[in-house]
Amino acid sequence: MKKTTLIFFAFCAISLSIVLLPSSCTKAKVPVPLPQVTCTSTISFSAQIAPMIQENCSGCHGAGAGTSPVLSNHAEISANANAIINTLRGTPQLMPQGGPALADSLIQQFQCWLEQGTLNN
Ligand code: HEC
Repeated sequence: MKKTTLIFFAFCAISLSIVLLPSSCTKAKVPVPLPQVTCTSTISFSAQIAPMIQENCSGCHGAGAGTSPVLSNHAEISANANAIINTLRGTPQLMPQGGPALADSLIQQFQCWLEQGTLNN
């Protein structure tokens, strides 16, 4: 093979990797780190979390509403808490479906409840 041909192929390989590498990086499923929140009080499941889910999610995720995951009691909400906080922040898709996103104070409240150990209080 001629030297110029080799150089041509090397050039192609480098250009291709410059084009492909960034896109393969964005496709990788790197978990999105949650922003830091400051929790000043203990969040109550019955007074804060359950009503928030009831108001914003039950139409689709209530018992019998037909959308998985079912979020109708403490056990179900607790078991899905990580997925819930991610969807509230838009990953892999924003919930409530179709938006708008919940108020930031409600999202932070949910994150605090999660970080406090998803208490059934
Ligand atoms: C209008 C109906 C609707 C509402 C309201 C809604 N969801 Fe969803 N949700 C869906 C549907 C439909 C899916 C399944 C989407 C799919 O599989 O692509 C889903 C999926 C999810 C998932 C699984 C996401 C995943 O991809 O792993 C979670 C967690 C979730 N919803 C949480 C919530 C929370 C929390 C709320 C309330 C703040 C909420 N949803 C409100 C319709 C809704």
